[in-house]
Amino acid sequence: MELYIDTADLSEIKHAMTLSILDGVTTNPSILSKQGVPYKQRLAEINELVDGKVWYQVVSENSAAMVEEALEVVAILKQPVIKLPMGPESLKASKVLSSQGIQTNITLVYSVAQAMLAAKAGASYVSPYVGRINDIGWPGLQLINDIVRIFSIQGLQTNVIGASLRSNQDIVSVAEQGASAATMPFKVFMQMFNHPMTDSGLVQFLEDWKVYQHQN
Ligand code: E4P
Repeated sequence: MELYIDTADLSEIKHAMTLSILDGVTTNPSILSKQGVPYKQRLAEINELVDGKVWYQVVSENSAAMVEEALEVVAILKQPVIKLPMGPESLKASKVLSSQGIQTNITLVYSVAQAMLAAKAGASYVSPYVGRINDIGWPGLQLINDIVRIFSIQGLQTNVIGASLRSNQDIVSVAEQGASAATMPFKVFMQMFNHPMTDSGLVQFLEDWKVYQHQN
């Protein structure tokens, strides 16, 4: 399963990349706009730190402008994934970019029908927003399950990436429903390493070892 952190914070990215587990970094307009630096500068900085894919979401509103914006970013990144918000213009742009061998992601996906259209448009990934669906009282994980199942029945190759994940249990749950990727906040990624019983178990092992060394 591919794992990504959803951030444009360089200190978080530096820290996470030293752990050599992640497949890259995802961003969105909200995340990049909070950084206080020009977005292309920040993307170039992220690109230097990341051994893997860097995802950028276009903000243009028609397909020709989306393609143009995407190509400018593709020129900056070693392994770009272009995110396009679900809609007809994005699907047209996805088709053009995919035909040029550029990986695309249709984001803001909230239904199986949307995911099926994204796959038809050649998207490499679709992003169902699990947390935001749960927030409005609908079953986010069920959407992952439905998309994965229908893609499998129809032989569609598009990857399902669980997005808007809020806890390490969310990562396990989307894995269980068959998602092939997940993106999460840095804090959630770090939580994945932890368990209180691991900590207390390690303290005990080291204490026993000290006693043994003292006796021998
Ligand atoms: C990732 O591609 C999405 O932009 C992200 O997971 C959204 O997460 P949020 O719902 O916590 O903002």
